[in-house]
Amino acid sequence: MADKQATLTYNDKTIDVPVLEGSVGPEVLDIRKLYGQTGAFTYDPGYKSTGSCESALTYIDGDEGVLLHRGYPIGQLAEQSSFMEVSYLLLNGELPSKDELDDFTYTISRHTMLHEQLSTFYRGFRRDAHPMAIMCGVVGALSAFYHDSTDISDPEQRKIASHRLVAKMPTIAAMAYKYSVGQPFLYPDNSLSYTGNFLRMTFGVPAEPYEVVPAVEKAMDRIFILHADHEQNASTSTVRLAGSSGANPFACIAAGIACLWGPAHGGANEAALNMLREIGTPDKIPHYIERAKDKNDPFRLMGFGHRVYKNYDPRATVMQKTVREVFDALKVNDPLFETALRLEELALQDDYFIEKKLFPNVDFYSGVILSAIGFPTTMFTALFALARTVGWVAQWNEMISDPAQVIGRPRQLYTGPTQRDYVPVGQR
Ligand code: ACO
Repeated sequence: MADKQATLTYNDKTIDVPVLEGSVGPEVLDIRKLYGQTGAFTYDPGYKSTGSCESALTYIDGDEGVLLHRGYPIGQLAEQSSFMEVSYLLLNGELPSKDELDDFTYTISRHTMLHEQLSTFYRGFRRDAHPMAIMCGVVGALSAFYHDSTDISDPEQRKIASHRLVAKMPTIAAMAYKYSVGQPFLYPDNSLSYTGNFLRMTFGVPAEPYEVVPAVEKAMDRIFILHADHEQNASTSTVRLAGSSGANPFACIAAGIACLWGPAHGGANEAALNMLREIGTPDKIPHYIERAKDKNDPFRLMGFGHRVYKNYDPRATVMQKTVREVFDALKVNDPLFETALRLEELALQDDYFIEKKLFPNVDFYSGVILSAIGFPTTMFTALFALARTVGWVAQWNEMISDPAQVIGRPRQLYTGPTQRDYVPVGQR
């Protein structure tokens, strides 16, 4: 029983509500028994005040702009770690020793190939299919190819499925790109790093050797780290909800990909770059800021605002720095970056954005970098899905191991007709 209790009085009945404390962050009112004790539900569309699970993976303090993975600040991980190491950390709870990291990296590299039959699956899509449509389909289809890792009650199978998903995602995303440009698929080359391998499968061709540019590989790896996990966001909650019914991991991750696709979530990086292109030059910025503030105009500043961050998204800070590194390495200078910097500056001086605490989020600058590396905008969300897979998988594993978790099944405030009798069609 929790030490602290809150009391709730409703319909002349007073009940004790346990108050739970995490290791850090706000206290949580445990209302699991509320319906049984009072006959009432809570109402919280968008879950703005609702915690759905206990988790030891990721902590966000949105007011302070803090993001920790297993306690480690995202800035330190992005600067000093690697995506493979962060993946190990998320999946296993602690940073690996050198041997553990080598073992893990080797294991992941052994799962990078796709079942050959899956390449024929791609050919069923139109060439202009959105990569996220392909990702949803192909990842869901993995469950039809890897039957030996779909028994969720077996920890070993769960582990293998987790490794497969993390390992195969770059291959799946790169093949979606290759298919869209009409180039042959490239098999993985496991002598390269996780990220270098992905760049080669995406931009290499069989006719010539592909040279990985170290600065681009580092930037891409950092982008993967920045997207690896983010607490109970929409797609992660989707993965957990799908998994709560006992669905297999490949189906659950496909559900997460579908949710991530939306422009309010993972699709925002694509939308942010399209917006910057539409704005074009800095002189047009005031006009678009006015549009974003106009309640009668559906236009919003994409890459701005966040459900949890009411301060600068710490990932955006790293992302902004990474833009300069990539530009220097590739000797490019996209004027859209200047437009983005100016837009940020003007928006952050504007009362509307100040009052509503709207700051740049991770997606604001990521599009500029990805475009400089050579990705078309349609691939942006697919890259997000690739990186977020490890977070989804870690959250899914945590959920399966948590005895408190049962099938997710929210209730509703019903406002439809009360019971009435059916009237045959001829009498209506
Ligand atoms: N531009 C203009 N106004 C905005 C913006 C924006 N980008 N974001 C929020 N607002 C305004 C809203 O109109 C609302 O105003 P109101 O109080 O007068 O009605 C207020 O700020 C609060 O916004 P909500 O939409 O209620 O905030 P919520 O937490 O539900 O939404 C969201 C957060 C979806 C991210 C929103 O800020 C948004 O649509 N941003 C643009 C899309 C985007 O960048 N998404 C990426 C999120 S990060 C990620 O998924 C990796």
